Amino acid sequence: MTLEALYNISYGLYIVSSGNRETGNGYIANTVFQITSEPPKFAVSCNKNNFTSEFIKKYKTFSVSILSQNAKSETIGNFGFKTGKNFNKLHGFDIKYGKTDVPVVLNDSIAYMEFKLTDEIDMGTHILFIGELIDAQMIAEGEPLTYDYYRKAKKGVTPKNAPSYIKKEKIKKSEGKVYKCNVCGHIYDNNKEKIKFEDLPEDWTCPTCGISKSEFSEI
Ligand SMILES: Cc1cc2nc3c(=O)[nH]c(=O)nc-3n(C[C@H](O)[C@H](O)[C@H](O)COP(=O)(O)O)c2cc1C
Repeated sequence: MTLEALYNISYGLYIVSSGNRETGNGYIANTVFQITSEPPKFAVSCNKNNFTSEFIKKYKTFSVSILSQNAKSETIGNFGFKTGKNFNKLHGFDIKYGKTDVPVVLNDSIAYMEFKLTDEIDMGTHILFIGELIDAQMIAEGEPLTYDYYRKAKKGVTPKNAPSYIKKEKIKKSEGKVYKCNVCGHIYDNNKEKIKFEDLPEDWTCPTCGISKSEFSEI
């Protein structure tokens, strides 16, 4: 089986949020899709370990912000590589509250949708949350960020909690050094890059999660 074949599935990238005006959390998902048009129902796959799953279960509502192609790596780093179990992920972000008081992240997003939870399907590691669309609004002009663009142009990687995670084969042994981001797992391979990792400026940051150079370890 060639698991790389799965990279050809077209997805977008989204911030799925839940909560209310007092508390909330959000995570990055690529697994948002429409199921029916009448009524308009959508599904999103959420890892059971994602803190956001507790909010969706409790508040029975969620929002989906459609990320822009220009989305900053810090935004993807915050929502896709860190868990809200230890800090307020929404802090410092531009938040709007929807009809159900659900938080909606506006940063780096071109549109959003708001859902009332109607069903949840236990899929083992993940829960498939199904919601009925109760609102949809434009936020800004721009192109939506696709998973393909994220991987190829932004050199983005995917953490284990994502359903589309594929275990990488062992990185080929080569003469040049290879470094790995301690936060998101982004690989900087001196054999493939024009500038050696050691020669990158000290203010260089991880292209995937935005963390500083000092957070990389040689592997
Ligand atoms: C590109 C990308 C796609 C992801 N897709 C999903 C997804 O579809 N479902 C999921 O459960 N997690 C997905 N994740 C992982 C979660 O966003 C990540 O585990 C997050 O830190 C969970 O945050 P939370 O614990 O605060 O809810 C994805 C992450 C990235 C970077």
